[in-house]
Amino acid sequence: MVATHDLNDQALTLALTDEHRMLRDAVRDFAQKEIVPIAAEYDESGDFPLDTIRKMGEMGLMGIEVPEEYGGAGMDALSYVLTMIEVAKADASHSTIVSVNNSLYCHGLMKFGTEEQKQRFLVPVASGEKIGAYSLTEPMSGSDAGTMQSRAVLNDAGTHYRINGRKSWVTSGPVADYIILFTLTEPEQKHKGVSAFMIDTSLPGFIRGKKEPKLGIRASATSEIIFEDYDCPVENLLGKPGDGFKIAMTVLDAGRIGIAAQALGIAEAAYEASIQYAREREAFGGPIGQFQMIQQKIADMKTRIEASRLLIYNAVLAKERAKKDGGRYTLEASMAKLFASETATYVTDEAVQIHGGMGYSKEVPVERYYRDARITRIYEGTSEIQRVVIARNELGLR
Ligand code: CAA
Repeated sequence: MVATHDLNDQALTLALTDEHRMLRDAVRDFAQKEIVPIAAEYDESGDFPLDTIRKMGEMGLMGIEVPEEYGGAGMDALSYVLTMIEVAKADASHSTIVSVNNSLYCHGLMKFGTEEQKQRFLVPVASGEKIGAYSLTEPMSGSDAGTMQSRAVLNDAGTHYRINGRKSWVTSGPVADYIILFTLTEPEQKHKGVSAFMIDTSLPGFIRGKKEPKLGIRASATSEIIFEDYDCPVENLLGKPGDGFKIAMTVLDAGRIGIAAQALGIAEAAYEASIQYAREREAFGGPIGQFQMIQQKIADMKTRIEASRLLIYNAVLAKERAKKDGGRYTLEASMAKLFASETATYVTDEAVQIHGGMGYSKEVPVERYYRDARITRIYEGTSEIQRVVIARNELGLR
């Protein structure tokens, strides 16, 4: 890996246009009116919020960067980030579903799909009519993503790959109509033997496994998926045989910017609740916000939130540049994801502390923010993996 851009040599030039502001305000309005009132109930039940996801599809939010001719909204990387922040601020579960649909599924198909694959698998998902997912992880293969055990074997006629194996932690696995699946076609070649397939979940041999009982983002359904002699037509191969690992990593670069934006949205929600509480809650004869120990927390929370935003905007710029020059934005995406996710866990923890006993109660959303934030340091590459990616880039190592 090599460093993609020298951050020392560029100024941040990102301006919100009127369209960006209109989009942000529309998403904020929708999220505050339609998602906030149901977030606690869906967190409790763990049900999938299909109605609000469908409405977001109608608003163009399930395929934000996908061109209109493929069912999307034809907007840019900043629009996606602004959307993710506003949705996550209302409810992290909703934003997880939006994120996987947009930046793992749609982005992967846009970049690597054939015209036929786009027509069949992208149009219905980008328009929000169907739900897309991405499946890389297996029970024995998480951070070390190249070591999977599932297999796809081409039949003698060369018409179908027969897929067998078990995948885990599939976001939207219990409901997805289509999935980008990564599995081994040439096991002896390790990561160079991974291939990517478009999976139609209505075909025989596709089985939805156990739903994960999670600490947070409980309304974002996560499950295992199992393949038992699933016959995948060769035309559903995404890219060439052996391209799978690179496709998975390329797509995760986009995904990590989305998770960074999600983390920022959760942190902002926890921060705003803390400001309000610090103004209203009285102790020792006045609002707790007058005490320096609370003020120190507020100052550190705010500073880390704004630093996260700058790293995310920096990653957005790098992604837009990459759209033009075909380059990578791995470093920028990993830095944004690392810092924003660690900020989200820090800010939500301090928010609970500022709220005291109330922060531990389900009567206010702060405890949900605290639980939801935790996943952002784990999925789409743990903080440890982001540090590996960043350091390898800087050291020029592989
Ligand atoms: N873009 C394009 N290509 C890339 C790349 C990227 N970002 N990163 C690596 N590659 C390429 C390399 O250039 C290399 O290519 P060559 O073989 O041609 O030289 C190849 O991929 C292998 O790269 P590495 O040697 O660096 O691979 P590695 O085995 O050491 O792994 C890793 C690197 C960064 C640790 C990677 O395995 C990784 O990111 N692991 C974490 C996986 C992850 O994020 N999983 C989450 C899954 S999604 C999820 O969370 C569920 C959900 O639904 C949300």
